[in-house]
Amino acid sequence: MVSLWCVLALLSFFSPEASGTNPGVILRVTQKGLEYGRQIGLVTLQKKLKTVKIPDMSGSEKVSPIGKVSYSLTGIQILDLGLPKSAVGLVPGTGVSLSIGDAYINLHGNWRVKYLRIIKDSGSFDLSVSGLSISATISVKGDDTGRPVVSSANCAASVGNVKIKFHGGASWLYNLFKHYIEKALRSELQKQICSLVAEAIEEMNPHLKTLNVLAQVDKYAEIEYSMVESPLMSNSSIDLSLKGEFYNIGQHKEPPFSPTPFSPPAQDSNMMYIGLSAFTLNSAGFVYNNAGVLSLYITDDMIPSSFPIRLNTKTFGTFIPQIAKQYPGLMMKLLVKAEKEPNVSFEPDNVTLQASSTVTAYAIQPNATLSPLFVLNVNASVSARIYVSGLTVAGNLSLDEMDMTLATSYVGPFQVKSLDSFLTMIMKAVVIPVVNALLRQGYPLPAIGNMNLVNTQLQILKDYVLIGTDVQFTG
Ligand SMILES: *[C@@H]1O[C@H](CO)[C@@H](O)[C@H](O)[C@H]1NC(C)=O
Ligand SMILES: *[C@@H]1O[C@H](CO)[C@@H](O)[C@H](O)[C@H]1NC(C)=O
Ligand SMILES: *[C@@H]1O[C@H](CO)[C@@H](O)[C@H](O)[C@H]1NC(C)=O
Ligand SMILES: *[C@@H]1O[C@H](CO)[C@@H](O)[C@H](O)[C@H]1NC(C)=O
Ligand SMILES: *[C@@H]1O[C@H](CO)[C@@H](O)[C@H](O)[C@H]1NC(C)=O
Ligand SMILES: *[C@@H]1O[C@H](CO)[C@@H](O)[C@H](O)[C@H]1NC(C)=O
Repeated sequence: MVSLWCVLALLSFFSPEASGTNPGVILRVTQKGLEYGRQIGLVTLQKKLKTVKIPDMSGSEKVSPIGKVSYSLTGIQILDLGLPKSAVGLVPGTGVSLSIGDAYINLHGNWRVKYLRIIKDSGSFDLSVSGLSISATISVKGDDTGRPVVSSANCAASVGNVKIKFHGGASWLYNLFKHYIEKALRSELQKQICSLVAEAIEEMNPHLKTLNVLAQVDKYAEIEYSMVESPLMSNSSIDLSLKGEFYNIGQHKEPPFSPTPFSPPAQDSNMMYIGLSAFTLNSAGFVYNNAGVLSLYITDDMIPSSFPIRLNTKTFGTFIPQIAKQYPGLMMKLLVKAEKEPNVSFEPDNVTLQASSTVTAYAIQPNATLSPLFVLNVNASVSARIYVSGLTVAGNLSLDEMDMTLATSYVGPFQVKSLDSFLTMIMKAVVIPVVNALLRQGYPLPAIGNMNLVNTQLQILKDYVLIGTDVQFTG
């Protein structure tokens, strides 16, 4: 019984991966993005390599004709370290390759010798290491929180030339140390560099950990950006498949629809591309509809004063005489309410939103009781502009078309068509602006650290929006 339970638990745990959950959002880093990463990473790597510690060395050597010479080399310090040449590339299936060439390190230290029992001598030396090359492979994987994580998969370092210049002391001693230092230094550097490179790579992880895998949108919704599968490394980009799904805060219920697979076209003029599927926006509709917030009361004071038609039984009486007769001299109120979640669809260069809703008209009694007059079914077709503002995606709607039918009347039959132009005006002048004010606040894009987007452009493609952008990190 227990083991069956375990198997079921495991199956349900692994099933999203196994069944290949499609991402709602794809975040792609291009070669140009890696280049920018290289520039930032190099600063870290340089600092890291400057922490190379060359230990004190000592020993003794038989030198004829004087006999045993004891020596020590101490206080070896890095004066300067340069990484003039470096390159990054993609390793399909693994991650990123980093190669560094012609690197150099200048060091300074002190030497001391003792021989023939009583003779002591000392001085300093300068050391220059050149033609240092490092090649490393950075593997990119996913961690258990759905964030990317990097590690050093492979590393090799080799030292080209080592040159030593001694200050002070007898010249015959130089040859003795020269060989010794050179050999020890080579092996010390080769031993330490790769572990410092690995440390520098690991130091990227705290930054990657700042990926907003669960980002709050407002008091009702949050959006999940955890990876739904391992990062995909091709020869031109790294693709992170992110969930990209809105949820009611603290209550993760799946909608009755799922993401359509999509694959952004090969483009490389920007550092990063973010593909946002229609699924993501539709999951937002599902969430807000569940939260019961897709409704709006319209009162007369919300209607521009220039409008000839007011929300009272007198004006409505001109279309539906029964209203003026049954409820004379009362103000009215309209309730616009979504019937189900709105459906956003993306066609090339075209975003449309289909919303089906009801409009209920009420007369407001003097004691504030609302008496229902009629209910209309309204389908609206809306076109949308989607744009990126800072690190958010925002939108703006305009009404294209509206179809209405009468659902219920409490005031006898009437021609719905007579209300057409009035309700269209209400939608355009009151409802759409209220919705647009909310959409302007936008929702957060996936982001790490102090990331800013620059040179951002947006294309509407079939079933998704493609944002191309460059990135700048501050601080
Ligand atoms: C990259 O991979 C694709 C197919 O996976 C291949 O057609 C293309 O030639 C490769 N490009 C390079 C530069 O290797
Ligand atoms: C949304 O509209 C598209 C195209 O009009 C349609 O294919 C899709 O099934 C609709 N989705 C939902 C959830 O109604
Ligand atoms: C956008 O799509 C809608 C519905 O598919 C269509 O009626 C409209 O003409 C399209 N607009 C443009 C500019 O293509
Ligand atoms: C409010 O007034 C209406 C009409 O006069 C009446 O039918 C209704 O019972 C009143 N409601 C309350 C709560 O007093
Ligand atoms: C938003 O759409 C409305 C039409 O519904 C238009 O008047 C307005 O200029 C648009 N605003 C922006 C910022 O695009
Ligand atoms: C609204 O659209 C639905 C299908 O999406 C249709 O069944 C219904 O009749 C439409 N209502 C109106 C008022 O056009």
